[in-house]
Amino acid sequence: MEAGCTDMKTARFIPPDGQIDVWTARNSSYNARDVAVMSETLSMSEHAEVQRLRVHQHRIHRLLSRALLRRVLSHYAGLPPQALEIDRKCSQCAIPHGRPHDRSGVWQMSVTHSGDLWAVAVTSNYPVGLDAEELEGRTVHHVSRLADESFTPLEREALPSWEPPAEHLVLQHWTHKEAVLKCLGTGLTIPIQSVQLLAPLGRRQQVSVDTGSEHKSLYVESLDIGQLWVSALACAAPWHRVVVRSVSILDDAP
Ligand SMILES: CC(C)(COP(=O)(O)OP(=O)(O)OC[C@H]1O[C@@H](n2cnc3c(N)ncnc32)[C@H](O)[C@@H]1OP(=O)(O)O)[C@@H](O)C(=O)NCCC(=O)NCCS
Ligand SMILES: [Zn+2]
Repeated sequence: MEAGCTDMKTARFIPPDGQIDVWTARNSSYNARDVAVMSETLSMSEHAEVQRLRVHQHRIHRLLSRALLRRVLSHYAGLPPQALEIDRKCSQCAIPHGRPHDRSGVWQMSVTHSGDLWAVAVTSNYPVGLDAEELEGRTVHHVSRLADESFTPLEREALPSWEPPAEHLVLQHWTHKEAVLKCLGTGLTIPIQSVQLLAPLGRRQQVSVDTGSEHKSLYVESLDIGQLWVSALACAAPWHRVVVRSVSILDDAP
């Protein structure tokens, strides 16, 4: 049994309280054969969702996103990936396009992708939000538009005094705001300006968000997943440990 795990009827491994596990993968590391094998783990509705996409690369990325999440959860559940029941019912309209939940309710998770990167954060007990943005190919024009459209006036005032360079900083700041909205489960259905972060990035911040129906308080912090991306983690409760791993070590998963 792994450290911190709890054996339950259905759960083989549960991240200990206060720990957030982050699993990363690169889409390009999977060849056509891998994709075919992984596709066999998808549910009927996931297959249908993939087939509805017109662009080949979008289909592959969607398929991998579904299969990788199953692969990671199978590690925790001790079940084959295809045996897991993953629900994506949207809290607003009931269409299955919301954030993923496993039906057992044992794990909380948040998925992100940017470019070639796929990642998921997994916790027990508290909702989590993960967001990542690829740094390559971002123009100054793109990031300044992002800041204009999504930052509050106070955030725009505070930003120039912070380190590092502006493009990275704006994207990093954006990941923090989006991680918070993903943790809340609203995504961008509420304005991104509802999340205002005024302290310099790099240390954990507590943030209060008005969702329109209630005030929610949560925590957000930068996450290091490599030089090619900026990333942030949000959680409804403070955490003391983040464990970042690559999905490929799950090759011996059930
Ligand atoms: C959710 C959202 C913030 C994701 O941002 P993004 O930069 O496009 O994409 P990311 O790669 O970071 O995240 C995508 C993942 O977010 C997750 N997600 C979807 N809806 C979510 C929500 N409401 N809350 C948290 N996570 C959500 C999914 O797991 C998705 O990946 P997957 O489909 O491969 O599993 C954004 O797409 C959004 O808010 N969309 C609008 C939501 C909306 O209008 N819903 C309709 C209501 S009827
Ligand atoms: Zn919806």
